[in-house]
Amino acid sequence: MNYGTDLFSPVRLGPYELRNRIVMAPLTRSRAGQGQVPQSLNVTYYQQRASAGLIISEATQVCPEGVGYPNTPGIHSAEQVQGWRAITDAVHQRGGRMFLQLWHVGRISHPSLQPGGVLPVAPSAIRPEGDAFTYEGLKPFVTPRALETTELQGIVDQYRRGAQHALDAGFDGVEIHSANGYLLDQFLRDGSNRRTDAYGGSIEHRARLLLEVVEAVTQVWDVQRVGVRLSPINPFNSMYDSDPDQTFGYVAERLGTLKLAYLHVLEVDQSGVTTGQAVNFRRLRDLFGGTYIANGGFTYERATAYLARGDADLVAFGQLFLANPDLPERFAKRAPLNQPQPETFYGGDEKGYTDYPYLVS
Ligand code: PHB
Repeated sequence: MNYGTDLFSPVRLGPYELRNRIVMAPLTRSRAGQGQVPQSLNVTYYQQRASAGLIISEATQVCPEGVGYPNTPGIHSAEQVQGWRAITDAVHQRGGRMFLQLWHVGRISHPSLQPGGVLPVAPSAIRPEGDAFTYEGLKPFVTPRALETTELQGIVDQYRRGAQHALDAGFDGVEIHSANGYLLDQFLRDGSNRRTDAYGGSIEHRARLLLEVVEAVTQVWDVQRVGVRLSPINPFNSMYDSDPDQTFGYVAERLGTLKLAYLHVLEVDQSGVTTGQAVNFRRLRDLFGGTYIANGGFTYERATAYLARGDADLVAFGQLFLANPDLPERFAKRAPLNQPQPETFYGGDEKGYTDYPYLVS
């Protein structure tokens, strides 16, 4: 284990020697081109941030049904693979490393985003509160269609194909998105999973789909190049679990036996605030036993203290990396940081995307 270190000590991640422990967190930016294909604007954005020890791509749908927002990129067509290839080449040219985040939103979609206008799918027919982001603006979420048991193998196959495409696109690894109220998380937490088959009920059952997806993805990628992301206490997307310590302790322990590249945990809720529900994240880290990436509103100071205590091996920064393409250099020099501009987080052009300034030296 890599105890007593700081953000700038190199770290081994699977087969890779990362140059620092500063990870760029996955960030939805909704700026893919026609056909949900990454475009040259996206190449510039990621290349600007290649000094991260590791970049984790924005969430990327593994199949047309997995989409939940306008203009998010996919990894299910040949054009998308080609678009991503330009990005991984650009990041590698700058000596960076990049994993693709494999995504299926489940119920966090809308018929207007679905092929054929069908209902989005979910473990159970439970409607999330709030509105979907569609091309025609906000629309109330609908009650999703509960997946049949016989359909779940098809879902696993979609992740397997996404993983294969990520390999073809030149990524260094993949992260399975099992957080933030999307499909795999909908299965894990009991607020959204009321199934009575082998994929619902006990935590052993609720974790089954995630573990099958991990198994399929690790048939494509060596286990050392596969990570998993969890968010035990993020209520975003109407999520709730009656016992997150037990649920995610089980998941962490099971994933730990597989010797994956890492476990990546959003330790707060989406807005960077700790919710009422408490989870012992140090216990989660110890149950997993491998490389642990912490995320959630970290500053330089808190990340440094966290690593020194051995509470994480790496720290992922979202908003700070979005606003500071040269974040590692700024941290190293203790230089002032650009402030993130929330109004340009989602959608649009280069404004608030590739025009955040570098340090002037
Ligand atoms: C979002 O688009 O708001 C979003 C996407 C993926 C996440 C979290 C939030 O994991």
